[in-house]
Amino acid sequence: TSAKLVLDPAFTVAPVNRRTFGTFVEHMGRCVYTGIYEPGHATADEDGFRKDVLELTQELGVSLVRYPGGNFVSGYRWEDGVGPREGRPRRLDLAWHSIETNEFGLDEFIRWCAKAGVEPMMAINLGTRGVQEALDLQEYTNHPGGTALSDLREQHGASPYGVKLWCLGNEMDGPWQIGHKTAAEYGRLAAETARAMRMIEPDLELVACGSSSSSMPTFGTWEQEVLRESFDFVDYISCHAYYGNDDGDTESFLGSAVNMDRFIDAVTATADAVAAERKSSKRIDISFDEWNVWYGDRSRRTDGPGDQWEVAPRRIEDEYNVTDAVVVGNLLISLLRHSDRVGVACLAQLANVIAPIMTEPGGPAWKQPTFHPFAITSRLAAGQVLRVETDSPTVSTAKYGDIAAVDAVATYDEGKLAVFLVNRSTEGPIEITVDVSRIGVTTVAEAVIVHDEDRLATNSADQPDRVTPQPVEAQLQDGKLTVTLPAVSWSALNLS
Ligand code: AHR
Repeated sequence: TSAKLVLDPAFTVAPVNRRTFGTFVEHMGRCVYTGIYEPGHATADEDGFRKDVLELTQELGVSLVRYPGGNFVSGYRWEDGVGPREGRPRRLDLAWHSIETNEFGLDEFIRWCAKAGVEPMMAINLGTRGVQEALDLQEYTNHPGGTALSDLREQHGASPYGVKLWCLGNEMDGPWQIGHKTAAEYGRLAAETARAMRMIEPDLELVACGSSSSSMPTFGTWEQEVLRESFDFVDYISCHAYYGNDDGDTESFLGSAVNMDRFIDAVTATADAVAAERKSSKRIDISFDEWNVWYGDRSRRTDGPGDQWEVAPRRIEDEYNVTDAVVVGNLLISLLRHSDRVGVACLAQLANVIAPIMTEPGGPAWKQPTFHPFAITSRLAAGQVLRVETDSPTVSTAKYGDIAAVDAVATYDEGKLAVFLVNRSTEGPIEITVDVSRIGVTTVAEAVIVHDEDRLATNSADQPDRVTPQPVEAQLQDGKLTVTLPAVSWSALNLS
């Protein structure tokens, strides 16, 4: 079986947006505590940050990190987590049924971002709080000085943090959300919060909450109503999507990027329809600020008995396999091909909680199989995203009908071509021929594959490198690149 595609440097989508390679740190389970932060750990630095996790974050190629939630943010008081540690209160975290010690907060997060070399993206609490608390947080975070809260930050030893990108709440469409709202209620609050925040800093970039998934009963109407209220004051509408293979329908699971493609197209169309109603040329882009593979019951918010409130309990520490890594690689292909409208994306989350990086308290840190396609795509994607039309055999799926077995995206940057390919078939290999004659590349500098005969192979503390990218054979002759893609595989090629 074979597939082909033709690449042309003149047919571009948009520049590769570095913010596509964002992730997410929530005060949830062990993402913060014993994840990125563990004073006393053998690798902890003077701030208590795990250096092994910092190094892996850099190797992952993360550009931006969203913080502090997630569902957590909808009950969070940001002022609990700033200033001297001794005075910080312990609180109940209702979202994840645990105790928040507030040992780590905004000041620590910004310091951690500087060390990791990532841009912070802050979420504000629009669940239990409103406009005033958002403005207070903004004043503390960004105002240069000479006011109560900016001076407080200075007293805490910090210059303005200069945070540009803000989420106006989190998943406010979800009935599980603390302070859940209707679209009309949330749309008004988002608009008024955004309008006030812009009175301090007109050039902030603000994200309104879209749907928690494309299967929410309010999907579509939620985006429309929220944007009708907030269109003039926001820049992005969010999308969240998690894909699992709980029902054993591997063909559909491997087709998850089809759902992501349709989700992005539907939200873009809805945002543009609101623009049309207003005769506006403004374009609201997408912040896909939570995406990943996630197993298990998504409605289950806690893992412990109701009367147990623990500090940093283990929560949704999914162990990923090779098939999950192929899906994650394919979801990145979907995000990249929508670079004209997806301005921000965050793999949720960074450490331990449905994460590419795992740790043991007092022990090692290691990479899940899903780490690899993310790290390689972040490293190789550069310049312009090229338009790609793949001529491919199809796979029948229960959820999405017949879909292309081979999915692909390419980027081109001053003589360097990167091609990302996935074979979503469970049946067998597909040989793909990529016509690169119009690009003029002559050398295959790198060709790697994430694949394993055991599709359920995973990594662990004992076997951290059971699943790693392997070299794959690629022929480049007379402007034609040929690679054989085994069933259930993700590959990346770098040509010059
Ligand atoms: O990432 C885990 C959770 O998933 C987040 O807290 C929430 O926003 C989503 O439901």
